[in-house]
Amino acid sequence: MTAPPDPAHVARAYDLWAARYDTDENRTRDLAGRVLRAAGLELAGRDVLELGCGTGRNTEWLATGARAVVALDFSDGMLAEARRRVGLPSVRFVPHDVRRAWPVADASVDLIVVTLVLEHVEALPPVFNEAARVLRPGGTIFCAELHPMRQLLGRQAEFTDPATGELARIAAFLHDASEYVRSGLAAGLVLTDLGEWRDDEADRTAPPRLISVRFTRP
Ligand SMILES: C[S@@+](CC[C@H](N)C(=O)[O-])C[C@H]1O[C@@H](n2cnc3c(N)ncnc32)[C@H](O)[C@@H]1O
Repeated sequence: MTAPPDPAHVARAYDLWAARYDTDENRTRDLAGRVLRAAGLELAGRDVLELGCGTGRNTEWLATGARAVVALDFSDGMLAEARRRVGLPSVRFVPHDVRRAWPVADASVDLIVVTLVLEHVEALPPVFNEAARVLRPGGTIFCAELHPMRQLLGRQAEFTDPATGELARIAAFLHDASEYVRSGLAAGLVLTDLGEWRDDEADRTAPPRLISVRFTRP
């Protein structure tokens, strides 16, 4: 949280990180992938929207069951990696800043998936308002994000800039657990789960690495 909160900086940083994002050691990325896969989300025959798809690691998995996946991201570099990884006709990658209104029709989506994106988004209410707009009744939004306790300990997305060899920290915003919960509730969604996740080998006294929230549209 020391980096300036400049959204253009975020997209540029992910452009620089894109080529190594999948091969860098990254326990947070790996745990988020495991938490998502273990969440018991219904995929078969569903229309899925993914926000901040990055290199498509989770898009690829979502596409194995879903009827269709629309995956949004504002980093051209990350989207290029995602398109290389996933070449299915059922998957559409769309360059888009998720802080703006989503290019998705009202009540047209069964499941929204968001992993490790919202630390870069200052205001959560517009995200959950858009979720309430595009979800079909009974639809679900699942988010897994860096836990605020770890944010308070100074953790945020970071990578080694290949051009300089220096550690680059990507602009991030602190979100308390209550911010996720209240933003979803204020959008008219129903909270169905809140999870806190540590690495398998982590001691119970270690701060959780991730927080997850799950809401349904009534
Ligand atoms: C840490 S990566 C996570 C990628 C993927 N979801 C995963 O779990 O591996 C964060 C991604 O969110 C994207 N992102 C951050 N802020 C965004 C915004 N406002 N609009 C669209 N994409 C955004 C970045 O470009 C990057 O690809």
